[in-house]
Amino acid sequence: MKRILKWTFGLIFLALVIWFEVAYWTSTNDCEHNTAAPANPVKAIVYCDYGLTNLKLQDVEKPVPNDDQLLVRVRAASVNPYDWHFIEGTPYIMRGMGVGLRKPKDTRLGVDFAGTVEAVGKNVTQFKPGDEVFGGRGGAFAEYVCPRATRAVALKPASVTFEQAASVNIAGITALQALRDKGKVQPGQKVLINGASGGVGTFAVQIAKSFGADVTGVCSTRNVDLVTSLGADHVIDYTKEDFAKGEQRYDVILDNVPNHSLSECRRILTPNGKYVMIGGGGPNDNRWVGPFGRVIKAMVMSPFTSQKMGMMMADANGKDLTILADMMQSGKLKPVIDRTYKLNEVPAAIAYLEEGHARGKVVITVE
Ligand SMILES: NC(=O)c1ccc[n+]([C@@H]2O[C@H](COP(=O)([O-])OP(=O)(O)OC[C@H]3O[C@@H](n4cnc5c(N)ncnc54)[C@H](OP(=O)(O)O)[C@@H]3O)[C@@H](O)[C@H]2O)c1
Repeated sequence: MKRILKWTFGLIFLALVIWFEVAYWTSTNDCEHNTAAPANPVKAIVYCDYGLTNLKLQDVEKPVPNDDQLLVRVRAASVNPYDWHFIEGTPYIMRGMGVGLRKPKDTRLGVDFAGTVEAVGKNVTQFKPGDEVFGGRGGAFAEYVCPRATRAVALKPASVTFEQAASVNIAGITALQALRDKGKVQPGQKVLINGASGGVGTFAVQIAKSFGADVTGVCSTRNVDLVTSLGADHVIDYTKEDFAKGEQRYDVILDNVPNHSLSECRRILTPNGKYVMIGGGGPNDNRWVGPFGRVIKAMVMSPFTSQKMGMMMADANGKDLTILADMMQSGKLKPVIDRTYKLNEVPAAIAYLEEGHARGKVVITVE
């Protein structure tokens, strides 16, 4: 019996190793097939292999919208940690989840965009050529994108620049959904935002304030004035003080920088407080599983405590983009732009973001 089990497990293990080897070496992408010169060339950032040094600005075929899509001339895009996860192919677990084992399956990059509608598919009634729009669509580091009209796209308020609008999709939606849907922030509640000066944090401080919360932002010394100017009631300079060691209790913690243990975070939550984790650390943190270990810990811990702990993943959609557009139009929300780069400088923009100290958003202008 022992021998049969030993052989069975041995054979299963061998089959898995062979399957992995075959899957790894046959993992490919369209770079090997798209060798002909495009008939209608437009510029886009393309990467055929993982790694920042493999990003290239090159001619690709101008996209054609299907019946449900818009053709948008991109005027600005913005970079997110999301982009470097795909560029580096980390955490590696992602590669086995369809992103591409050896090479990236999808060779186009970027999500957040703002631009002008040039054409619409025949089923599109919400938008027309000439409209200025913003939102999210894969392949946004390019001169053109084709978002679906019913997905993550909304009209850009006239008072908002393309650069500001391009900075909103991932970071703004994440901040909104984390505070409204997961944190269920109520007026007067105490909200702590760890990583208050970054892409998500700068939106989160303003959105939490607009919900009537008492907001504490955590950032380094050089960003204290910025976070105060966004409306934070209290600012903790993490180079001088550890928020997890303080006596203050919070109703909601929005954690963009998971640099404290879950028990430390629990200690400073009110008995029915909510800990909302969105961040997974930098490109070199937990390269194999990213935030998943911490997510599982939070899931295991949560049922045994009155406090709610968990990770949230943003779900970009037109309705929430319109809410953010209205907030920008009314002056309640102002995107913070740190640096702007040109389309051919996307690798430099990503390298800067990877350092983990952007102040607000890093934007790409597309001429
Ligand atoms: N779950 C989702 O759907 C979702 C969506 C968007 C983003 N995310 C994740 O959320 C995280 C944050 O995204 P982001 O766009 O805001 O990133 P980001 O713009 O790169 O954040 C940079 C900010 O982090 C701050 N920071 C660095 N170390 C810190 C520390 N020890 N304590 C407090 N703040 C610190 C920096 O402030 P200083 O310069 O002052 O240090 C900087 O302002 C990333 O891990 C990203 O992958 C998740």
